[in-house]
Amino acid sequence: MNKIYFSIILSIFFINCNNSQSNKTTAAKDMITKKSWGEVDGKEVYLFTLENKNGTIVTISNYGGTVTSFVTKDKNGNPSSIIIGFDSLQPYLQQPPYFGALIGRYANRIGDAKFNLNGITYKLADNNGKNSLHGGLKGFDKVIWNATIPDKNIPALTLQYVSKDGEEGYPGNLHVSVQYSLSDNDELRIEYNAETDKATPVNLTNHSYFNLSGSAANTILDEKLMIDADHYTPVDTSLIPTGEIKPVKGTPFDFTSPKKIGKDIDLVKGGYDHNWVLNIKDTSMQKVAALSDSISGRTLEIFTTQPGLQFYTGNFLDGKFINRDGKPLLIHTALCLETQHFPDSPNKPNFPSTILKPGEKYHEVTIYKVKTNN
Ligand code: GLA
Repeated sequence: MNKIYFSIILSIFFINCNNSQSNKTTAAKDMITKKSWGEVDGKEVYLFTLENKNGTIVTISNYGGTVTSFVTKDKNGNPSSIIIGFDSLQPYLQQPPYFGALIGRYANRIGDAKFNLNGITYKLADNNGKNSLHGGLKGFDKVIWNATIPDKNIPALTLQYVSKDGEEGYPGNLHVSVQYSLSDNDELRIEYNAETDKATPVNLTNHSYFNLSGSAANTILDEKLMIDADHYTPVDTSLIPTGEIKPVKGTPFDFTSPKKIGKDIDLVKGGYDHNWVLNIKDTSMQKVAALSDSISGRTLEIFTTQPGLQFYTGNFLDGKFINRDGKPLLIHTALCLETQHFPDSPNKPNFPSTILKPGEKYHEVTIYKVKTNN
């Protein structure tokens, strides 16, 4: 049996064991529900609702593995979503720029849409100028994932997708499994697992756009951000890393202590859209960033096992899409904090390797944790 499926069955078994103990004390309300949400490529699309004991709610679709909303209470007790998006499937099919979606096989850019591996040049779709962005023309954000609910008493959802050898130009059949779960501490945990039968680059992330105020009426320029990174990777004019790893000290990229996003943004041409080199000690999970908003009293903390973080200030949002609150999604009305490996790593030998080989297991975890000051 495929190892990924075996480990999923094993984790379902353990979740069930834990749950049979908690069942004795908790009420029987389902913590995850499923509803039909439309059809794409002749396949049914669902929307799953995960809820914890605080009434925090995360909705996720198996179309693109998209997190469509993350509803928490603000400092006045009013619920709103800290993630922009839509309540119906239709606008997602108009290809908004990756709102809430799972990104793969390679998050962010690969320069000149090609890379060499073991003496072979692999050509990818040039869907972003001459570069390849977020997995190509039909990346993991536009496919239908196979969804399973491990246990309806636990707000967790498992999504699986098999990316075929040659899909979007990448080598090897890649079996991907992503588990989303919501804890009672208001943590949205995303666990990524993958295995391949041929060496291939793999870089998976989630592309949620946050606005902690809960409304796209406010920009994110007054939100404060801390990134635990002393270095970042500078880019050329097409947003491909130059290969340098530069200190943030004395530059607009210094977020080592909390700073208003708007403070130095005008010093960065086009706004922030860069990869920060996280100050990680090892591959264990650690807190790498925190975002806070005084309007709502919310703070978002990010924990990850990954070495990089793409901080993107919604520079290309142009009002084409309307958020669920009826407000147009204009420039800087939302931001992304995408945990990842560095962009263009397959062409940058000095960056940490993103090559997954047969027999190896890709495993990364990221947690988005919300806290509210009353
Ligand atoms: C990433 C990229 C940005 C942009 C967005 C989607 O964050 O780094 O340049 O492409 O995705 O619009």
